[in-house]
Formats: sequence, structure tokens, C-alpha cells
Amino acid sequence: KNIVILISGRGSNMQAIVRAARAEGWPCRIAAVISNRQDAEGLVFAADHGIATAVVPSKGVASREDFDAALRAEIDRFQPDLVVLAGFMRILTPAFVEHYAGRMLNIHPSLLPSFPGLATHRQALQAGVKVHGATVHFVTAELDHGPIVAQATVPVLPGDDEHALADRVLAQEHQLYPRAVRWFVEDRLAISNGVVHVASGQL
Ligand code: GRF
Repeated sequence: KNIVILISGRGSNMQAIVRAARAEGWPCRIAAVISNRQDAEGLVFAADHGIATAVVPSKGVASREDFDAALRAEIDRFQPDLVVLAGFMRILTPAFVEHYAGRMLNIHPSLLPSFPGLATHRQALQAGVKVHGATVHFVTAELDHGPIVAQATVPVLPGDDEHALADRVLAQEHQLYPRAVRWFVEDRLAISNGVVHVASGQL
């Protein structure tokens, strides 16, 4: 299977996926890492690991439709079976999302359906929840609302600030996202009535 990973910045989730895929010998190829920002730090890691990289700049593009069309053309050059959004900070048009229906995953740093959108750790602290976490889900047109593949939880501890909580969640993301992508690559995910079922296996 061919995987294309989209990033906007640091790319630590992308790195976790690349490392796991190689260490565990997944039946797939990370065909490309694509960013909407030239200065995304993760591009350096990808290039250093022999992965094709590309930049589709979002800055200065006239419309969301124009950007998404350019992005789709770049992604499809690599004929992906799966598109992985890993810290990709763009809202995508419904037409783009539809084109990758059932083959695009995202990670969101909260226990969805709680706290969609931005500043999830601040939202969690303000709500006073005692458990927080991260969610991997299929991408649908409604932001942060697609069928849930996997979740990981962390405690919210007394004295936590956004930074401490974000770090705790990120450490879980690095375990969770590779596992979910591996399930997809191994054809273990099925969606029925908006609910994801995971076929049993080693994990
Ligand atoms: C992660 O917390 C991800 O859940 C969120 O943005 C962060 C990206 O981090 N959407 P990285 O680029 O994977 O290091």
C-alpha cells in the first residue's frame, strides 16, 4: 500500500509512523511527505529518510478550492491508498474530502467528540475534565467528526498547564497513530453506520 503523509510543521507524528513502519516491516511504502509550508521541520526528517517530499504552498493562494485542487494533484501523483493528516493545519473542502473518502485519517488532540477545533488542551483545562487524550478518525466533511478509529487517554493532573498536558497527550499520539495506520495497512478497518470496527490481529 502507498501512504502519503501531510504535515504543516514539526511532524513528530509523521516521524513516529515512519519509524514504526520501518521497524515493524509494515506491508506499505511511505510514498511522500507533503507540506503546505516550505519551512515545516518535518520535511527535513522525511528527506533524510529517503522519502519524497513536496510543498504545496497555501499562502497567497486565491481560494480554498484552488489550494485543494493543487494539493490533490500533488498527492495523486503518488497514487496513495491512504492519506494521513499528521498535524496538517488546513481545513479541507468537501470535494477534497469526498475524493479521499474512506482512505484519509486524521489525529486530533482530544477525546472526540469533546473539544473539536483548536486549542484543545486549553479547552480541556477550562472544562475541568479529569481525563483527556487523542483520537484517530476517518476524515469527513464535518471538521473533527469522522468515524473514530482509536483513542488514547491521559489523566489531567493538578497543576497542569496547556504545555504539560500537550506533552502528555503527544506521547500517547506517537503510540496511537502508528497503531491505527498499521490497522488500515493491514486491511483490518471496516466502517458500518459511521462506526469503525477493528478486526482482531496481533495488536
Ligand atoms: C499534534 O498534537 C496533532 O494531534 C495536532 O497537532 C500536533 C502536531 O504535532 N493536530 P506534530 O506535527 O505531529 O509533531
